[in-house]
Amino acid sequence: MSVSSSFHPPLSLLSAYQEHFKSSPRWVRAPGRINLIGEHTDYNLGYVFPAAIDRFMWLGFGESKTEGITVVAADLNEKAHFLPGSFDDHARGWLKYLQALIMEAQAKGLEIPSMEGVLGGNIPVGAGLSSSAAMGTGLIYWIYLHNGREINLMDIARIAQAAEHRIGVNCGIMDQFAVLHGKSGQAVRLDCLNLSFQYAPLDLDEYLLVLINTNVKHELSGTAYNDRRASCEQIVAALKDLEPGVKTLRDVTENMIEKHRDALDPEGIQRVTFVLRENARVLATSVALENGEYDLFGELLYQSHEGLSQEYEVSCGELDLLVELAKEEPAVLGARMVGGGFGGCTLNLMLRSQWEETSARMAATYQSQTGLVPDIYPVTAADGVGEWLEETVNA
Ligand code: GLA
Repeated sequence: MSVSSSFHPPLSLLSAYQEHFKSSPRWVRAPGRINLIGEHTDYNLGYVFPAAIDRFMWLGFGESKTEGITVVAADLNEKAHFLPGSFDDHARGWLKYLQALIMEAQAKGLEIPSMEGVLGGNIPVGAGLSSSAAMGTGLIYWIYLHNGREINLMDIARIAQAAEHRIGVNCGIMDQFAVLHGKSGQAVRLDCLNLSFQYAPLDLDEYLLVLINTNVKHELSGTAYNDRRASCEQIVAALKDLEPGVKTLRDVTENMIEKHRDALDPEGIQRVTFVLRENARVLATSVALENGEYDLFGELLYQSHEGLSQEYEVSCGELDLLVELAKEEPAVLGARMVGGGFGGCTLNLMLRSQWEETSARMAATYQSQTGLVPDIYPVTAADGVGEWLEETVNA
């Protein structure tokens, strides 16, 4: 797909390319994502309801005369060079991930050229908006284009996901799926059991989705994420022995858990119960949006946050505070943390006509209580990863 030219690479990136490299770049644009609802359900083979957003990672790469891969991470003002197939466990985070991506691409038979390029954009890092999925899928997309391979979004998603696993994050498929399948003005409901999906217009009438970034990311996130996943898998494994029909968490019911409560790990029960209820909330949200029932959508957002905070325990004080502040605002119908948790953003469903004063008030209280300055971004649903072609500017 070629993406709309109304957005173009930031000038700082264009000039960084010129400053560092002689070749002519091919640009790929990769969006971040929000998730309306359905958190920590993807790796549990449940439902998610994400949308790509109008914040982007840009990757401009050209073929290089120098062997290997040279990359400038423009926002960090860092430059690195490595050979395909090398993996340095002690490298900086973004570089290690890049090396992992190249290894996974090679493992899938993609040819890695000598390449040089820049990357950067306006998806805040560590904010739960999938800047890393944008970078990963964007890079693999570029390699597909360069190889002249037919674009296969699911294959690209899986390569980028495998790279996350390689660097120790046992993530699900939602982020990579969402940034690749995004469509302007649409959210997409995905069933992670069989990867079937439906687009749903994200037409919120007089409402708007506003992200408020706590601007914290607690260290815990990686290990706790993997722990939650393991905890749920353990319950499924135990129930497989107890209930013949159980193959995945999707076959589990709350009644079943009740029946076998004594044989199951109490913490695992709590986690799995959250997932079952969160799955139900995704389906309910889908219906609420179809019917334009925004109050109900808002209520489901609050319920989701409550579950993520109290049952799944992946929230943090700063996120909880922002959600509490949302509840005090008449113009906010609902709010919850978005993404893996332990920091990052809350997603707020707000009256469009009052979003600015409302979010400014919330930000001021947040700042006075935490000493942290939050960022505020209204968002709309955007197209997924695609090549940006300069000539389409004047088309
Ligand atoms: C991270 C992961 C996703 C998903 C979310 C939580 O963003 O990358 O796979 O599990 O957390 O919903």
